[in-house]
Amino acid sequence: MSNTLTKLALGMMGRLRPRPATGDAAATIVLPAPEVSGGMPLMDALALRRSSRKFARDALPLPLLSNLLWAAYGRNRPDGGRTAPSALNGQEVDVYAALPAGACLYDAGEHALRLVAQADLRRITGYQDFVDEAPLDLVYVADHRRMPMVPAAQRESYASAAAGAIAQNVYLFAAGNGLAAVIRAWIDREAIAEALGLAHDQQVLLSQTVGYPAKE
Ligand SMILES: Cc1cc2nc3c(=O)[nH]c(=O)nc-3n(C[C@H](O)[C@H](O)[C@H](O)COP(=O)(O)O)c2cc1C
Repeated sequence: MSNTLTKLALGMMGRLRPRPATGDAAATIVLPAPEVSGGMPLMDALALRRSSRKFARDALPLPLLSNLLWAAYGRNRPDGGRTAPSALNGQEVDVYAALPAGACLYDAGEHALRLVAQADLRRITGYQDFVDEAPLDLVYVADHRRMPMVPAAQRESYASAAAGAIAQNVYLFAAGNGLAAVIRAWIDREAIAEALGLAHDQQVLLSQTVGYPAKE
């Protein structure tokens, strides 16, 4: 809890900062091809879906991360369609992955991770303690520039609905693969936007932590 209070205080002063990166991150991480069939039956995964807030520190192996990101918001059709819906197919939500070695943007077209910040941003993806040490914090960002046909007053709610669909994909993937996950809105959006180098039209919506469950 004291870490949470420290982060709250730093956040209020606008001084919540990333930690130095652990390990090297390439400018582009080409992910292995995802396994897009099989897995736990959907109804079984739904029966197991829940929020968990106790994570082990163990890193997620690259093939598992690849499958997770594809499930979250990968391309599932030759026409560029994705695993989650978006209003007018604007595909306005970007998925960022805060990893110990750096923060990356998920490029669904190439199924790759593009490094955007060579720092460990996990700590600033939320006020709760576990976000600092869990192996992966996803951040969902709406790019309003990709919603020109949506009335301005509706853009945030439409993008939030799309991010919610992505988050549920991640929850179900986690349930089906023995992982823990939690979606989070209690986050410092300004600190995250600054650390990711976001533009004015990009809006941080939600974060979601994923990892192996803590060993009891
Ligand atoms: C929009 C939204 C925001 C949430 N924000 C947080 C959060 O900041 N921190 C957290 O620990 N859980 C957060 N949650 C998770 C809820 O607390 C959780 O879904 C709820 O307690 C029901 O538990 P379940 O997911 O296990 O069914 C959020 C859920 C939603 C839908």
